[in-house]
Amino acid sequence: MDERELAATFDLEKLTPEFYANPYPTYRALREIDPVKRMPNGAYFLTRYDDLVAAYKNTKAFSSDKKKEFAPKYGASLLYEHHTTSLVFNDPPAHTRVRRLIMGALSPRAIAGMEPDLIRLVDRLLDAIAAKGKVDLIDDFAAAIPIEVIGNLLDVPEDEREPLRDWSLAILGALEPVVSPEVFARGNKAVKDFLAYLDGLVARRRARPGNPDRDVLTRLIQGEDNGERLTEKELLHNCIFLLNAGHETTTNLIGNGLVALSGNPAQKKRLVANPDSIKTAVEEILRFESSNQLGNRITTEQVEFGGITMPAGTLLTLCIGAANRDPEQFPDPETFDVGRTPNRHLAFGTGAHQCAGMALARLEGAIAISRFLARFPDYALNGPPVRGGRARFRGFLSVSCSVRR
Ligand code: HEM
Repeated sequence: MDERELAATFDLEKLTPEFYANPYPTYRALREIDPVKRMPNGAYFLTRYDDLVAAYKNTKAFSSDKKKEFAPKYGASLLYEHHTTSLVFNDPPAHTRVRRLIMGALSPRAIAGMEPDLIRLVDRLLDAIAAKGKVDLIDDFAAAIPIEVIGNLLDVPEDEREPLRDWSLAILGALEPVVSPEVFARGNKAVKDFLAYLDGLVARRRARPGNPDRDVLTRLIQGEDNGERLTEKELLHNCIFLLNAGHETTTNLIGNGLVALSGNPAQKKRLVANPDSIKTAVEEILRFESSNQLGNRITTEQVEFGGITMPAGTLLTLCIGAANRDPEQFPDPETFDVGRTPNRHLAFGTGAHQCAGMALARLEGAIAISRFLARFPDYALNGPPVRGGRARFRGFLSVSCSVRR
């Protein structure tokens, strides 16, 4: 298909296998030909960097509240209750209250304090990989890191963490543009099981509070100094959100990074020779293969993009994956360059809802990828990796890989 056809036929509700494998030619065609693309369902799909920044920075005109959008999609279900209660899908003041509580436990000091444990965890995983020789980069490495980190953040007992990943995948999977009855049922069941689990965990934590400087669950239970507390429902759903938010996204950062480096041997060599470049390399991975490709907003007043006027109540999809390759912002955007600076990508969004866990995600990515490369500079993939098959959360389900011991 040529560019015109790609842009003309694009419909987020009818994506092709080619799109899932490589969405970037489509993103490019849209950005160049129809950057404010009207979908058959009346929503708009935005692909230009400046347009995304404008929407992200204006929470008044561009609301994150999903009640209107999700009511027909989810009906009166637990998935609806969950998504409409979590901070990311709310506007101020509900959003501000929860965000303040969470941010306190994600301060630079708190995050620096997590580093020694993180290094120990990564090194333990690398030892196990060395012992095996042939591994799955996702199961044996990328997914194993965030589950422990986020488990520590809420102080979930080690032997209770196993179901977290599947619950998280099931709940986030139901955020895809099109949701089949099976995916919907799986998502609802995951919310139900997750709530039941957290109910018990919260009761235990109320009886024996943790250290609020480090333990987000204790912070959320205790609330703010001025006595403002979350309702029980807000508390449980925001814990679920937090456990999910830091999970698949960070797994994908690590997995996408190791796959991108393996596919760009000159860049890999450069990074192996200059380990200090790990910070710019992580930013480039976030830009080049953003774990979270799509964001959403709804307009609360009449707005205009690229000469197109939209009334209040218009649904927007903000395409992070496309904005992060906009040549107006990034020279040579299709080139993977581990030393790229400046690199003001939108992988974490921007504005009031900008990712609350980005410092933690960056630390996890840097430690995981740099230590993996230092230990196994000659790692080799065994054939093509298996994609997750999702449009919103871009990553791999499995990546078979061999390392030399
Ligand atoms: C590579 C990893 C990650 C990526 C790409 C990512 C991406 C994002 C994006 C794009 C948003 C903004 C959503 C919007 O404005 O619509 C967001 C919000 C958020 N993220 Fe992350 N995230 C990552 C890791 C994490 C981690 C590790 C945590 C938790 C410790 C976390 C917690 C949050 C929270 C709490 C919000 C909501 C903030 C708000 O609404 O004010 N994220 N993330």
